[in-house]
Amino acid sequence: MNPVKVGLLGLGTVGGGTVNVLARNAQEIARRAGRGIVVSHASARDLSRPRICDTGDIALTDDPFRVVEEPEVAIVVELIGGDTLSRELVTRAIANGKHVVTANKALIAKYGNEIFAAAQRQGVMVAFEAAVAGGIPIIKAIREGLAGNRIEWLAGIINGTGNFILTEMRDKGREFGEVLAEAQRLGYAEADPTFDVEGIDAAHKLTILAAIAFGIPLRFDRVFTEGIGNITGSDVDYAGQLGYRIKHLGIARRTTAGIELRVHPTLIPQRRLIANVDGVMNAVLVQADAVGPTLYYGAGAGADPTASAVVADLVDVVRAMTSDPENRVPHLAFQPDSLVDLPILPMEQVETACYLRMRAADRPGVLAEVTRIMGDHGISIEAMLQKEPPSEEEGATIIMLTQRVLEGNVNQAIEQIQRLDAILGRVTRIRMESLG
Ligand code: HSE
Repeated sequence: MNPVKVGLLGLGTVGGGTVNVLARNAQEIARRAGRGIVVSHASARDLSRPRICDTGDIALTDDPFRVVEEPEVAIVVELIGGDTLSRELVTRAIANGKHVVTANKALIAKYGNEIFAAAQRQGVMVAFEAAVAGGIPIIKAIREGLAGNRIEWLAGIINGTGNFILTEMRDKGREFGEVLAEAQRLGYAEADPTFDVEGIDAAHKLTILAAIAFGIPLRFDRVFTEGIGNITGSDVDYAGQLGYRIKHLGIARRTTAGIELRVHPTLIPQRRLIANVDGVMNAVLVQADAVGPTLYYGAGAGADPTASAVVADLVDVVRAMTSDPENRVPHLAFQPDSLVDLPILPMEQVETACYLRMRAADRPGVLAEVTRIMGDHGISIEAMLQKEPPSEEEGATIIMLTQRVLEGNVNQAIEQIQRLDAILGRVTRIRMESLG
């Protein structure tokens, strides 16, 4: 049988990796797919740039629309990122009856509902394994491997750059900015690295995971997102002294009131496996009713790991190309007419434990005032740590770990505590999860 022809949009880190993996493992891939898969056409913004792959047999252009209009191309692989041009190209490819493979989490999180509807109308597939957690086959695991379960919650380290920064800060005491620059040099970071450090990239990925876990539409607009920019080396140290690690987690949980969708730095007990996922590695912990907890671990970014997911999608698409569209795995795991638009909880209604750090004047009665405010808001203290003041002006550092309480109550308590004369500066709050 003739090989399937693929049109590649983007020849950067992931595009180059995809060309390399397809070439290096061509025979293994053909044995799995039942026929060869070749990149026949590709576009890149600047054709003169050096590449990490050999593009010798590929028809190159700097106009991506020529690739999506090319009659020979059966599958378009979108690896240019962003959500404007990529949306136009993917929409065009679908309209032209081409299947699509994409690593674009922003595109799927924001426009996936309309893209999947268009694909369904055209009877084409849109595959997006590489959009979440790089090389970890987490979409396949949740969508197919856990199909017999009711998924209760999932928590993931789903941004490699952020995890790399937190790990280097903890292990080597390195500065935030310096580590971020290294992540950019290594090709882990987004084109706009604020997407990594502010949690937007993780929110895109969490949106996708929640949709396939709970059978809800993609609701990126409802994800609560907090970045790692305010985490200090001292917080990392204090958390360690209390037996915790700080990780930037994406958490999706089904409760009787609605769905929690949140990305924020989180203290987790250091004995948990996921607390020991370091560097650019990603991991997703899924709690499901039949199987219990399962943990998926692997490289979350980089050329070959992400290409691994892109190529797996290509194999899946090639295998299913001749099948009846009704018999394919649904894009969002559940049949499109069975998605349920469950309410997404506002953050004030989410319950978590908290780490609170504050600086207080070193005089009698301050702690009593703070704990009274916490008591008034139904906040119970689980553990406390007080550090001697280095000087009178700087005050004593007080760290408190609370039991689980509604976020709205903590917000009110923090406001009142910050108004006390004896409290110097702002109160730092980092949420805690036991993930038990
Ligand atoms: N910037 C992303 C990360 C790349 O660091 O995880 C993979 O999506």
